[in-house]
Amino acid sequence: HAVPVITIDGPTASGKGTVAVLVAKKLGFHYLDSGVLYRLVAMKLVQAGEDGANEAAAVRAAESLDPQFGPEGQVLLEGVDVSADIRADGIGLQASRLAVHPAVRQALNVIQHRARRAPGLVADGRDMGTVVFPDAPLKVFLTASVQARAERRYKQLLEKGFSVKLEKILHDLQERDHRDAGRAIAPLKPAADAFWLDSAGLTIGETVEKVLAAWQQRQ
Ligand code: C5P
Repeated sequence: HAVPVITIDGPTASGKGTVAVLVAKKLGFHYLDSGVLYRLVAMKLVQAGEDGANEAAAVRAAESLDPQFGPEGQVLLEGVDVSADIRADGIGLQASRLAVHPAVRQALNVIQHRARRAPGLVADGRDMGTVVFPDAPLKVFLTASVQARAERRYKQLLEKGFSVKLEKILHDLQERDHRDAGRAIAPLKPAADAFWLDSAGLTIGETVEKVLAAWQQRQ
């Protein structure tokens, strides 16, 4: 494959989204937030009064998903800007429920492969390096302790004006970690050739530098 991909996988709130955006910007690459696709399917289900556990409804929603993206990375669903709404923790939880269905993943993988365009792609998620882009020349696995991630998510949500409790976030993160790592298909796990980074002791800038240095080494 001629178009290079850098994959950044890791658990919820490890900072992979922020790092991936900055790496993509620095290299002039496209950026794919694969979690957004799972969140959009969750949004469609919630709007239809369904639950992520309803496999048939989730598969229908995934197969008919036609996400649109605005110039500043806004996420549109049927013309409506849902960028803020899809970030709610309830949507993330529903997303992790419907992400266990193989036919949902298959439908979303088609959309993800389409994002691989010149001059390159930075893709973040759970299975970017293991399943979706297994030939990526650089596969980052970004982690941090569940406590560090809960504190980060807590601050983010407070800043966005959501009213939240740290214990609830910790509990929800543990539930999602457990489900994402434990599912039979495309579980969250490092690729065999992954480049491990623990973000807890690093600033965002330092983490980005480490990814860029690893990328330079592979050129
Ligand atoms: O990364 P984010 O928190 O936005 O993802 C929401 C949920 O979507 C995750 O908890 C996970 O269950 C699912 N997901 C996935 N595979 C991906 C990206 C996200 O299963 N590549």
